[in-house]
Amino acid sequence: MRVALIGYGSVARAFAALVAEQQKRFPFRIAGAHTRRGTAYGPVLEFGPVAGSVGEFLDRAQAEVLVELSSLSPETGEPALTHIREAFARGMHVVTANKGPLAHAFGALRAEAAARGVEFRYESTVMDGSPVFNMVRNCLPGVKVLGFSGALNSTSKIILRAMEEGRTFDEGVAEARALGITEADPAYDVDGWDSAVKAAALANVLMDAGVRPQDVEREGIGALTAEDVRAARAAGEIYVLISRASIGDDGRVRMRVSPERLAMSDPLATVQGTSNLLLLHTDLMGTVGTISIEPRVEQTAYGVLSDLVDITRTL
Ligand SMILES: NC(=O)c1ccc[n+]([C@@H]2O[C@H](COP(=O)([O-])OP(=O)(O)OC[C@H]3O[C@@H](n4cnc5c(N)ncnc54)[C@H](OP(=O)(O)O)[C@@H]3O)[C@@H](O)[C@H]2O)c1
Repeated sequence: MRVALIGYGSVARAFAALVAEQQKRFPFRIAGAHTRRGTAYGPVLEFGPVAGSVGEFLDRAQAEVLVELSSLSPETGEPALTHIREAFARGMHVVTANKGPLAHAFGALRAEAAARGVEFRYESTVMDGSPVFNMVRNCLPGVKVLGFSGALNSTSKIILRAMEEGRTFDEGVAEARALGITEADPAYDVDGWDSAVKAAALANVLMDAGVRPQDVEREGIGALTAEDVRAARAAGEIYVLISRASIGDDGRVRMRVSPERLAMSDPLATVQGTSNLLLLHTDLMGTVGTISIEPRVEQTAYGVLSDLVDITRTL
């Protein structure tokens, strides 16, 4: 299967390396890569002048699947949304690690893919490649997801633990930045936007919520003081930025992101640093979860590969 890449940053490079390393087991071929600064046609990616448009790139690359790995725009889901639609219009399957399109327009994209008879996969968008969406699709037939709760934002965990240890909020931000996990503007993580985009993506895919990140009730960690987090710790409790969704009495999906004071024994309190935990509350399977311990970009790349393999199973 020939693969066209849009975006060639850390995830795409790790993905290209994984494809090269796993070539014997998974014979995917990189047909080209396109960024704002240059375009390359494979299999050996040597970047030359940027293609005139995404459409021109896709037409020339002649791939069966687009792997969309451009930067996230949390407010709109663009430019990935347009890239995905350009691929669907050409009868291409799409895999993305970009949560923006799911958080803003999942229902429409799912319908467009179905109308074109192509597949759409997105395992790496929320849990860095750990199985969530493919687990529900492939392992939980007939199960209805009634809600979820997740500790999904690494930067907030690092800041709150730094404050517990007597360091300042800004020192916590600096630690997260040194690990390369926070956005250029840390407010995206601190104010709960990252968690809200993830919550909207999960709710749209798993609960057919038809929401946008702006619909998530959102409170960041900015109002918590060092006294708050240390008092919680002294009482054997811990603050964690939690994303939750549930179905209200009116049948609508309600989502909330906020710092919660949890008992240390709560599963959501057990993941620290870059580790994440997501619990799905279901009708037939009770509560099931996915945990990822200190995932790195290689795991995000693996999630993309697992999506490609999942697509080949449908063909
Ligand atoms: N890093 C992770 O561990 C991780 C985990 C889960 C999900 N993700 C998601 O995966 C995606 C890629 O992440 P990353 O860490 O690889 O990002 P990155 O290193 O910042 O790379 C982003 C790439 O997108 C390209 N790009 C941006 N706008 C573009 C446009 N309009 N047209 C074409 N190319 C464009 C950039 O190249 P130019 O600047 O040259 O255009 C760059 O090559 C993001 O959506 C991110 O949220 C990442």
